[in-house]
Amino acid sequence: MNSSNWLLYGATGFTGELIVEEAVRQGMKPVIAGRSEARIREMAEKFGLEWKVFSLVDPQSIRAGIRGFACVLHAAGPFIYTAEPMMHACIDEGAHYLDITGEIPVFQIATRLGSRAEDTGIALIPGVGFDVVPTDCLARYVADASPGSENLEIAFAAISNPSQGTAKSAIEMMPRGFLTRRNGDLQRISPGSGGKKVQFSDKERFVLPVSWGDLETAFYSTGIANITTYTSLSRGASMFLRVFGPVMTLLFQFSPVRRSAKKFVDLFVRGPGAREQKSGRSYVYVKVSSAAGKSREAWLETIEGYVFTAKSALLCVKEVIEKSPKGFKTPSVAFGYDLVLRIPETRILDSIGNQ
Ligand SMILES: NC(=O)c1ccc[n+]([C@@H]2O[C@H](COP(=O)([O-])OP(=O)(O)OC[C@H]3O[C@@H](n4cnc5c(N)ncnc54)[C@H](OP(=O)(O)O)[C@@H]3O)[C@@H](O)[C@H]2O)c1
Repeated sequence: MNSSNWLLYGATGFTGELIVEEAVRQGMKPVIAGRSEARIREMAEKFGLEWKVFSLVDPQSIRAGIRGFACVLHAAGPFIYTAEPMMHACIDEGAHYLDITGEIPVFQIATRLGSRAEDTGIALIPGVGFDVVPTDCLARYVADASPGSENLEIAFAAISNPSQGTAKSAIEMMPRGFLTRRNGDLQRISPGSGGKKVQFSDKERFVLPVSWGDLETAFYSTGIANITTYTSLSRGASMFLRVFGPVMTLLFQFSPVRRSAKKFVDLFVRGPGAREQKSGRSYVYVKVSSAAGKSREAWLETIEGYVFTAKSALLCVKEVIEKSPKGFKTPSVAFGYDLVLRIPETRILDSIGNQ
């Protein structure tokens, strides 16, 4: 396998840099790329890597930038603005496309472009980070063990501060509202509603429905038509969303409001520091059930979400180059649910006691 024949775009971001550090630690040698020359060059010199500079504005420059690579790992978000041009370039140049998005519209774009990707023999696999690898793999694991399930609940607790990119992507998704999937269709729900307690493998937490990427990916991976995705939030944050969520989804329709919110993020959001990255843990809970009352639950524990993202994205780079799947795929469909178990300190527990 030639794992150096791949390009990391968006290497200068918070998560991009974590991916570069981890790649170098693992002996991988990506070519790193981004749109700002000074920062890319500095980083390439620091890590001893080759580099390229191109923006995502002109399709011909993107094609020229990725030409000759077997795979592109895209880490420049919010992906609502950056994913589609890169997907088109990957299809045109015959390079596998992976990204670390969690944005629902990006999974929808990849689904739409899936048959073109299949025709050219490349894979489009968005969501190879914490969103959605652990949740997608656990949902697949439980659904496969309970055929005929009609409802799927996925909850996660990621105990670390968000990065600027994560906060900005959330701001970009806010106008689309809070979603759930019912009878195969995405439906809006009232922000801050539907909260409940969930027993994770370490402790019970209060969780609230949010629009997580699994509303798309788990539908594809499991075929279950009723899906709710939850995250753990303090009761204070839940109350805030209940009171201000409806007005926020309206106000965030306006790009000047989103721009101001993103400036606030630049000033105040820093992402998890080294200590948090080392000690942070992440927890996932999945439950499937049927109308007949049969249900099954499973739990997953793993490392801190950003560290997880770097490791799982690199694992998926290796897998996609080696296995060469084709068309749109979710991580669990492309590589199997047990992909997640190859991330250090990760384990699955289920309701019949398997591990
Ligand atoms: N799946 C997961 O669990 C997971 C985990 C971590 C991050 N993410 C996602 O990954 C994305 C990046 O997060 P981050 O924390 O690394 O953010 P960040 O620190 O803000 O970095 C963003 C990177 O993207 C680049 N970029 C942004 N817009 C661009 C554009 N239009 N064209 C070219 N480059 C562009 C930036 O380049 P400049 O410096 O030139 O602006 C920078 O390199 C976010 O969407 C985040 O939600 C997902």
